[in-house]
Amino acid sequence: MISDVRFAFALLLAGSALADSPEMRTPKAGPAPRLNGPELTAVRAGHEFIYRIPATGNRPMRFSAKGLPPSIQLDPATGILRGKAPEREGEHRIALRAENSAGHDERTLKLVVGRTLALTPPMGWNHWYTHYDRITQAEMERSARQLVDTGMADYGYQYVSIDDCWMVKPGSNDPEVGGPTRDSAGNILTNKRFPDIKGMVDRIHGLGLRAGTYTSPGPLTCTKFEGAYNHEEQDARQIAAWGFDLLKYDWCSYRRIDPAETLEARKKPYVLMGAILERQNRDILLNLCQYGMSEVWKWGGEVGGHSWRTTGDLGLEKSARLPGFYSIAFKNMVLSDYAGPGRWNDPDYILIGTVGNAFKTGAPPQKTSLTADEQYSYMSLWSLMASPLFYSGDMKFLDEFTLNVLCNREVIAINQDRLGKQARVVRKTEDELVLLKPLANGGVAVGLFNLSEQKRTVTASWAELGLSGARKNRDPWRYRDRGTARGLVSLELPRHGGEITVLQ
Ligand code: GLA
Repeated sequence: MISDVRFAFALLLAGSALADSPEMRTPKAGPAPRLNGPELTAVRAGHEFIYRIPATGNRPMRFSAKGLPPSIQLDPATGILRGKAPEREGEHRIALRAENSAGHDERTLKLVVGRTLALTPPMGWNHWYTHYDRITQAEMERSARQLVDTGMADYGYQYVSIDDCWMVKPGSNDPEVGGPTRDSAGNILTNKRFPDIKGMVDRIHGLGLRAGTYTSPGPLTCTKFEGAYNHEEQDARQIAAWGFDLLKYDWCSYRRIDPAETLEARKKPYVLMGAILERQNRDILLNLCQYGMSEVWKWGGEVGGHSWRTTGDLGLEKSARLPGFYSIAFKNMVLSDYAGPGRWNDPDYILIGTVGNAFKTGAPPQKTSLTADEQYSYMSLWSLMASPLFYSGDMKFLDEFTLNVLCNREVIAINQDRLGKQARVVRKTEDELVLLKPLANGGVAVGLFNLSEQKRTVTASWAELGLSGARKNRDPWRYRDRGTARGLVSLELPRHGGEITVLQ
């Protein structure tokens, strides 16, 4: 208990001493290089590999990598690794090093050449919740550059994903999105806002990032643009030929094709697309978007999915008292048994910063109405739940506070931990939530959340957490040790606030 009082005091100090504003938790990155990102990453034999080594610190920086397969090259100035994976499956231990005038850092990255992709939850940015049906190629490319320029890529944000509305909208009179949906050979066409989609993907790759896209197994997407129905193979091949690295496959109008509510009917379009993607000559992650129907978490992995939405749209979540991200998290957090390396429960994107309104998609994006504490809770929950981390706010208006929430290397390391466990629920009451995520090094990350309307002390005992003895206790948000904890952890939390504590 004594040490807990000390933590509370240290927290107060940390809040004021480490950042510009008392509400900012994450200390600023220093000038010396600091290598971030997962400890391991996967690629399939013979496929293209693109990876921008995430590192904070002053540029220019000089990167080196020992133990790289000869078919993969490093650009020492940018830290971009690119090439073809070896033809033989196996593991390569790559010794990464980054150096600048202020110092250096070293770290091992294990490159696993094998069948299972997404060994840690995918991270990136998705256009949906800001640009909706207004998305353009120019906006996508600008957002990709901003992922690098804002420093988000230095923390491991990697996929730049277009969502719905890059195709033609059948029947639309709008000259930008209307017109023929396919060419005479049945190949899918982009709308006029995407004049050169291949060039766009190439430029995203040129930044060392990966590109994601979207379609639907039905004849139309959710916004009634052209879907893949009856053209699944052709569209997947086109998506692979353009060079995409991720596909979100959104149920929507497929209901019309097969309204049966059986497990078999729900699986069918995903079995088909999973098998088609498997045959492509590049790695394409498959995100199943069917809102959790027929307990998708039980079979999403076996049909070739790497992640699956477990709920409806977070931006449309109506909840009585707590913000929508909390009620989505409550549905997602109980599915921890189904997540693991290569197969992740997806509770949808991170909607903070300047972000659109899913109820009024035509309205200009606005600053989030979530409090600072709620935003740190959001990111804490997504990290503990080993959720894919996709920001979906407007990259043009990324402010320092939002970056402070999104870019904390210790919190992200919990999300990216190589054990790949989703936190399990230790306790959930009306007022409190306690989560526990086992880590690869034998430690655990404990999430303490105050769901009530007043400040409140939330405590978790060793008996509940299944721990014994004295544990080193660390505050990942503030990169601070919290001394030694014995028997319990206990923190005073503001209304809707949450903290993570790592016990070793
Ligand atoms: C559905 C999905 C969203 C988004 C939109 C696009 O609502 O759940 O994530 O992709 O469609 O129309």
